[in-house]
Amino acid sequence: MDYEERITSAQLGRGEEKVEFGIRPKSLNEYIGQKTATDNLKVFIEAAKMRGEPLDHVLFYGPPGLGKTTLAGIVANEMGVDIRITSGPAIERAGDLAAILTNLNENDVLFIDEIHRLNRSVEEVLYSAMEDYALDIIIGKGPSARSIRLDIAKFTLIGATTRAGSLSAPLRDRFGVSCKFEMYTPDELADIIRRTAGILDVQVDEQSVQEMAMRSRGTPRVANRILKRVRDFSQVKGTGKIDIEITRQALDALGVDFMGLENLDREILRNIIDRFDGGPVGIDTIAASIGEERVTIEDVYEPYLIQIGFLNRTKKGRVVSRAAYRHLGLEYAGEELTGDDDMQLKLKV
Ligand code: ADE
Repeated sequence: MDYEERITSAQLGRGEEKVEFGIRPKSLNEYIGQKTATDNLKVFIEAAKMRGEPLDHVLFYGPPGLGKTTLAGIVANEMGVDIRITSGPAIERAGDLAAILTNLNENDVLFIDEIHRLNRSVEEVLYSAMEDYALDIIIGKGPSARSIRLDIAKFTLIGATTRAGSLSAPLRDRFGVSCKFEMYTPDELADIIRRTAGILDVQVDEQSVQEMAMRSRGTPRVANRILKRVRDFSQVKGTGKIDIEITRQALDALGVDFMGLENLDREILRNIIDRFDGGPVGIDTIAASIGEERVTIEDVYEPYLIQIGFLNRTKKGRVVSRAAYRHLGLEYAGEELTGDDDMQLKLKV
């Protein structure tokens, strides 16, 4: 199965854009979690509004599905400006970016998702746009070519990336504000599930809310998707109200275990255990042995496995923890770890 189609995928699936839009919070007060980022942004937004200036350029970084696009929309809303949403791979040439930039109004937000995937020539146009609100355009070719400077409206760039380390230094340095997105705690996910259930007008008992929160791998997008699938099960096979029986039945049918792992997560762990004695093993070797791309493992699977303490990233490679062996019902064959490998503590439950 394609990872974008999995129930626990943090990527948006086909047709989900519209549904997500309806349940997305529109103001900072409605937004749950990412407290450090939102507390800071509140101050910067208020200050920028008092000065009548655009907000400084902001970089959002962290794993997918944690609400970067949602928060960018909220920032624009709170600033009282429009947002234009695009992504690194969608801007193929410098001219594409110039067209977008020249169409922005004063103080608007330009959101570029996957900004680490911008190509070099496009990125260079962004430097002067971010710094001087100007575009340097080359007219003509060869010896008669000349450069003219075109002023554009003052704007805020919000860049989002799953890998801040892949950003070039000149681009990274041009962001005045950087916000790291953290995985959500089960309590925060429970709040999100209650909020979404209210919007979808579906009744969920408290035990089911907690169960879904535990299985949502720290990610609101997964929590909301699980809620919608459980609602389907409750409509067809239950009473329409969501209780713990129907929640467990639905999640088991979907192959999501009580820690939120799906087949591919378990396959990664089993692979390291069976073929590499639990590690250490390099990421490229893991990728080759399960036939996935290295970046997919790094960006999509690993963050959660590391977060719950099932996988450790060491200098020598990836190592499966004792907690993961226990979860898979296998006898631990590795060395005793000195650190705490208990997933419950890492999840703060
Ligand atoms: N839905 C998705 N992400 C959310 C968040 N962070 N807060 C509230 N509702 C959400």
